[in-house]
Amino acid sequence: MAKIAMLGTGFIAGFYTLSINGLRNRDQVHMVCSLDDKSGRKFAEKHGIPKWTTSIHDAVNDPEVDVVVVGLPNNLHKEAVLKAAEAKKAVLCTKPLGRNAAEAKVMLDAVEKAGIFNGYLEDLVYPAKTLKALESIKNGVVGQVIWARSRETHPGPHSDWFWTKEISGGGALLDLGCHCIEIGRNYIGKEIRPVEVVCWSDTIVKPIDAEDNTIGLVRYENGAVAQFEVSWSFRGGMDLRDEVMGTEGTIWINNFLRTGIEIFTAVGEGAYIAEKAESTTGWIFPVADEVVELGYNNMFADMLSAMEKGIECKETFYDGYVVNEIMDACYRSAKSKKWEPVELQNWRGNEKTEPINKFKEYNKDYYFVKEEKMPDGSVKLILKDKKTGQIIQK
Ligand SMILES: NC(=O)c1ccc[n+]([C@@H]2O[C@H](COP(=O)([O-])OP(=O)(O)OC[C@H]3O[C@@H](n4cnc5c(N)ncnc54)[C@H](O)[C@@H]3O)[C@@H](O)[C@H]2O)c1
Repeated sequence: MAKIAMLGTGFIAGFYTLSINGLRNRDQVHMVCSLDDKSGRKFAEKHGIPKWTTSIHDAVNDPEVDVVVVGLPNNLHKEAVLKAAEAKKAVLCTKPLGRNAAEAKVMLDAVEKAGIFNGYLEDLVYPAKTLKALESIKNGVVGQVIWARSRETHPGPHSDWFWTKEISGGGALLDLGCHCIEIGRNYIGKEIRPVEVVCWSDTIVKPIDAEDNTIGLVRYENGAVAQFEVSWSFRGGMDLRDEVMGTEGTIWINNFLRTGIEIFTAVGEGAYIAEKAESTTGWIFPVADEVVELGYNNMFADMLSAMEKGIECKETFYDGYVVNEIMDACYRSAKSKKWEPVELQNWRGNEKTEPINKFKEYNKDYYFVKEEKMPDGSVKLILKDKKTGQIIQK
């Protein structure tokens, strides 16, 4: 049984606590840390947590606490992680790990130097649908992944600090791009080196210093590309979708706006529908159980079980650091309007990955290009002559 100190009592701390304390779990949030005593007490009472404090130091150093979960605004991640490392407590940190790669690297070095268990709380690689997709890819169901697309767009975050660049470190690219980039990495293969990025990013709708809309491409060493699309000005709720295109197959995932339950109401449901939902009447798209749909429960199960077994969990601080390096390159590219290299100071994946094999053999003379059944029932076969390079059809 793990006894957890939850740092933060806001949006994510609520979901994390529901995931950990829910379903009669053997792990328990034992202590919560809040900005003020009133919200700490309220949160503790709501979730049946025995202790609360307003001091990050006291929460981390409580003698009964063995795991620290960081659910604080981005500018406090580093301070909280360094305190956990100093106290030699296992630490799980929400996304993004750092406001930039330099911050993430300091956190990575600190936890590794202290020899403590560390987990990067990237819930969106843990939904059951995503785990199924990743397993299918591993089993060769879609062949080699050549393109992965991940989209997270919504009408903008729920607290002032997200919109203040000095605190958050960035806008939609940092806040949502971190999810999509890590999803793409998982689909393409975390052992394959991300080489370069090209990115468009702009502030179009909101009166803020950071970006509210971004689209980017991350190119991997084997030629595969991960595309991400993020927005803080999308209307219609929260759109969370992934697509994977492989040499032999395709995967589509819709994690939020269409999860299998659709309700029509002429009068309005009058209750919470789902994160960032914008309408309460007409056709509405509730999310049955956000903790489950967004992978929070699988994520904590993986991390706390790995900790017990003394092995690495699926997402570690190293992954958080790689994501921050990719995002730093995206910010450089958005400025330069050119492809920019991903400058990984610390690379632990394959030294070299061969390019995706593009050509399928038809016979000793031809490469296969395409086969299609035509409206008249005939079958067209398109081939490429290996010697002459000529494309023919049969
Ligand atoms: N899906 C996800 O993984 C996901 C979703 C939302 C937010 N997040 C991340 O979680 C973190 C928090 O976001 P949120 O949405 O919960 O924000 P929030 O504004 O809802 O909550 C922030 C919390 O931090 C507390 N806090 C602020 N300063 C503090 C201090 N000095 N000491 C103690 N407590 C302090 C506040 O009281 C509040 O409880 C961010 O890093 C964000 O990126 C992750």
